[in-house]
Amino acid sequence: MIGNFKVILGISGGIAAIKCADIVRDLKGLSAKVLVVMTKSAQEFVTPTTLTAVGADSVTTSLFNDKSDMPHIDIAKDAQVMVIAPATANIIAKLATGIADDALTTTVLALNCPLLIAPSMNESMWQNVATQKNIEILKSRGVKIIGPEIGKLACGDIGIGRMSEPLDIIRRIEELTSKRDQLSGKYFIVTAGGTREPLDEIRYIGNRSSGKMGFSMARKLLERGAKVSLITGPTELTAPFGCECIRIETVDELRDEVLKRYDASDAVVMAAAVSDYRFKKPVQGKIKKSEGPLNLTLVPAPDILKELGDRRSNKILIGFAAECGDDIEKKAREKLEKKNLDMIIANRVDDDRIGFDSDYNEVTMITLDSVEKIPISSKDSIAEKIVEKFIFLKEKALRSI
Ligand SMILES: Cc1cc2nc3c(=O)[nH]c(=O)nc-3n(C[C@H](O)[C@H](O)[C@H](O)COP(=O)(O)O)c2cc1C
Repeated sequence: MIGNFKVILGISGGIAAIKCADIVRDLKGLSAKVLVVMTKSAQEFVTPTTLTAVGADSVTTSLFNDKSDMPHIDIAKDAQVMVIAPATANIIAKLATGIADDALTTTVLALNCPLLIAPSMNESMWQNVATQKNIEILKSRGVKIIGPEIGKLACGDIGIGRMSEPLDIIRRIEELTSKRDQLSGKYFIVTAGGTREPLDEIRYIGNRSSGKMGFSMARKLLERGAKVSLITGPTELTAPFGCECIRIETVDELRDEVLKRYDASDAVVMAAAVSDYRFKKPVQGKIKKSEGPLNLTLVPAPDILKELGDRRSNKILIGFAAECGDDIEKKAREKLEKKNLDMIIANRVDDDRIGFDSDYNEVTMITLDSVEKIPISSKDSIAEKIVEKFIFLKEKALRSI
């Protein structure tokens, strides 16, 4: 049941826009507040009057000459989900490149909630390499995609390209919104990737962390309505849609960015592989081989998680422990206690199938009074389980107050 949710319905200029009146009606039937934003082309297929007549709470067609001075900000604010149905090849391309040249595309950039799109177009347009590439880009940012379906197309051909049926779109919106209030109003700091400690101005010591686990964590938290700041070391990954992404290199930069936000946060997930050591005095310029043998002194880097644990108050702290060899669980439990954490996720990094740079992992979630193994699974599904465990811990903490 959606009930009292603010849903934004973006309509772009495809023939399936004629089905949008049904989507508005169905959403209103579920007591949602429905704010419609239409492109200029969409108005060739369905009129704002029709959408208002079937119950839309507002219909925005332009960034200018609207009741609001900043319609895109007002519409995006506090929305629980936005759906673009139909999504034309054109709008998909604009979203993939971040173009904001009308009310719909500008609203998308101002969003802080999940975005679902329902592509609809002729089969050749859908199969076009450009469209497929754009869809991949959107998927990598966490945009949800429903359809297109196979069937009779508006041009008369049979093929893939039909917009999913309004009721299927509504079901998908319900799915997306049902989990949204679990963490709404909660602010998470998630760290990801590895740090780099400079040796001179061009060299560093780093590690093999890809950032995938932290990015999966951020994505799963966002899906449940949390506000997320993702602080990441160097990585090729695209930040999930709707989070604040801060890119850092060194342990000191990571520490600064975490501490800046720590007081305002409800929980910290430290999935970054933070260097334990750094060079005592990085060299200015470039070290030359002609200088002969090199003796380098490494000193311990700040232990950010320990620092957070020492001043934690009522926050939930989750750490990751990358371990090798035997007694992984025992080593991780020692960290949990020493650093005053609520949960530590122990994972093995001496198995090539999992861990660093893999899409898979095998972890053990350890709290003071529980141990739960998650067998080899995708990092996304591990992140989902960690978030569920977090929600359990949060509810348990509330019950004990
Ligand atoms: C009759 C007609 C039907 C169209 N249907 C579609 C469609 O289903 N999907 C699509 O991607 N484009 C379709 N187009 C092309 C878009 O309307 C066109 O690319 C337009 O620039 C989209 O603008 P918008 O994305 O800003 O709404 C259609 C055009 C016409 C004339």
